[in-house]
Amino acid sequence: MKKTVLLYWTPGGSVERAAKVICEQIGTDKVDLYDLSNFDIKKLGEYDNLIIGSATIGADVWRDANDNNKWNEFFVKAEGMDLSDKKIAAFGLGNQIFYPDNFVDSLGYMKTEVEKLGGKLLGPWPSEGYNFTDSEGYKDGMFFGLALDEDQQPEKTPQRVKAWIEMLRKDMNF
Ligand SMILES: Cc1cc2nc3c(=O)[nH]c(=O)nc-3n(C[C@H](O)[C@H](O)[C@H](O)COP(=O)(O)O)c2cc1C
Repeated sequence: MKKTVLLYWTPGGSVERAAKVICEQIGTDKVDLYDLSNFDIKKLGEYDNLIIGSATIGADVWRDANDNNKWNEFFVKAEGMDLSDKKIAAFGLGNQIFYPDNFVDSLGYMKTEVEKLGGKLLGPWPSEGYNFTDSEGYKDGMFFGLALDEDQQPEKTPQRVKAWIEMLRKDMNF
């Protein structure tokens, strides 16, 4: 069995709730779950699989827009690391009705940052069933990871998570 860690930020809201649903789907005994502010990046080497979760909070330039964003801090600390041997996937929370031009943009940020470290995002997710006009987290009908909308489509989350984890199971060998 491969070792899996799920890192999410921010805690206390939809991202955390989604993170827990994902862990339950994988099997809580098979994945270590951390709010990013409680995770020591030095431990990343212990894991084969990395799942990363975030919300889009209206940041155009992520690294400059919000000093408080722990994902910025994480990727700055990660500079120089090589993630090419890890299996990596991302999920992103957003609101497609309030932010139709920037729906789950954070998935685009995650992709860029992971690729800078030699990694690649697994688990692209089809954009059917969502209503939005544009997204940095999307290309050619596919999101770069699982898009979840707990504000507008909470009822769809369990099924989406289930299908996404089944997809990842082959690659990640949970
Ligand atoms: C100030 C603010 C800006 C937001 N900007 C975006 C956005 O640009 N794109 C998007 O898809 N969702 C946006 N959202 C919606 C959040 O991503 C969504 O509500 C998410 O579920 C919040 O997760 P949390 O409860 O863990 O913080 C924004 C929410 C807030 C409060």
